[in-house]
Amino acid sequence: MGSSFSCCGSGKVDEGLNLGGGDSPWRIFTYKELHAATNGFSEDNKLGEGGFGSVYWGKTSDGLQIAVKKLKSMNSKAEMEFAVEVEVLGRVRHKNLLGLRGYCAGNDQRLIVYDYMPNLSLLSHLHGQFAGEVQLDWKKRMKVAIGSAEGLLYLHHEVTPHIIHRDVKASNVLLDSNFEPLVADFGFAKLIPEGVSHMTTRVKGTLGYLAPEYAMWGKVSESCDVYSFGILLLELVTGRKPIEKLPGGVKRTITEWAEPMIVKGKFRDLVDPKLRGNFDENQLKQAINAAALCVQSEPEKRPNMKEVVGLLKGYEPKGKVMQMRIESIKYGDDLMALDRGSDDDDGNGCGGGHDEESRSEYGVFGAMDVQKMQDPYKRYGEEKMGRRGCESVH
Ligand SMILES: Nc1ncnc2c1ncn2[C@@H]1O[C@H](COP(=O)(O)OP(=O)(O)OP(=O)(O)O)[C@@H](O)[C@H]1O
Ligand SMILES: [Mg+2]
Repeated sequence: MGSSFSCCGSGKVDEGLNLGGGDSPWRIFTYKELHAATNGFSEDNKLGEGGFGSVYWGKTSDGLQIAVKKLKSMNSKAEMEFAVEVEVLGRVRHKNLLGLRGYCAGNDQRLIVYDYMPNLSLLSHLHGQFAGEVQLDWKKRMKVAIGSAEGLLYLHHEVTPHIIHRDVKASNVLLDSNFEPLVADFGFAKLIPEGVSHMTTRVKGTLGYLAPEYAMWGKVSESCDVYSFGILLLELVTGRKPIEKLPGGVKRTITEWAEPMIVKGKFRDLVDPKLRGNFDENQLKQAINAAALCVQSEPEKRPNMKEVVGLLKGYEPKGKVMQMRIESIKYGDDLMALDRGSDDDDGNGCGGGHDEESRSEYGVFGAMDVQKMQDPYKRYGEEKMGRRGCESVH
């Protein structure tokens, strides 16, 4: 892959070049080509901005609609890591994962090309520009829940090496023209330059999905994704944001809001009022049961994604008896104070908060020492858990 890096600056078109092997339909794009496709990365083409850079809509000369993620510039040391990561992602193929369409790497530029998803993200339907239209009926919501769970199951259990997403959230679940969900942005967490924690790049809109052991100690495991998925499920069912600001400025997590109703078995009261009572009672129970199990504070009590898919599909869990239980997470006040804008953003997850200053000032890990929660891992010790702390990805 090393020889391919010069393509970007050279202007040479590697049309049709397929380095992914097998049936991977991705290729190298030239900077010129992507520049032309996105109208010079114009503001009008901008779909949004995340922790890694900006995303632009584009159309290639052969008519393919693409989304181009222009990464913030990286140093040369990160170049090989980028190549390895692209190589891994290029091999990932699943109907519920947004695979690579291609990339461009050269000089200081790193660009990743995906297929454009016409229904944008789950975030835009729940809280953003499509929220008023209520295109997401109950059936679609369950399809999104099961599909994204299957995408995560594949990442955790089927692809080699296994991949922990680390940023499961509504803006990373994209929707195709049939509302089939595609989980995006897996694997690129490792592209953050050394010394800069991924999470320090964007607390905004993300904190509410973070498993407590990850938010407070940076402990990463598949279980963190399971926790985030549980929050996503609650969000899908209730139409509420993971963290909402109450009158008076107090912030409340979705689990704090849901817990009393779940404990009393008042599941109907949890359903998004926008659905006007149109939902399947059985599926509601299954979804709430799965979500409640996923958001337990102790990672070892959470189900794995195989079990989650089974629960969502209504299969009886074999062997392990999982009783419905919910524990609401309350992040420490200091940590909560860092969540700037989960309730006052523009619904794209891309408004403000990404500038250099806020990145260094508002990192989640910077707040770790103020947390009082007991470390859920210490009984086991790092070795037994087989994790390498926050650096463990695959
Ligand atoms: N392939 C795509 N098709 C349509 N919209 C996309 C596509 N990829 C990304 N987007 C949208 O562009 C916006 C920016 O995406 P980006 O991934 O950079 O940020 P994010 O999802 O908010 O945060 P993160 O950096 O954690 O992924 C989001 O609203 C996302 O839903
Ligand atoms: Mg994203």
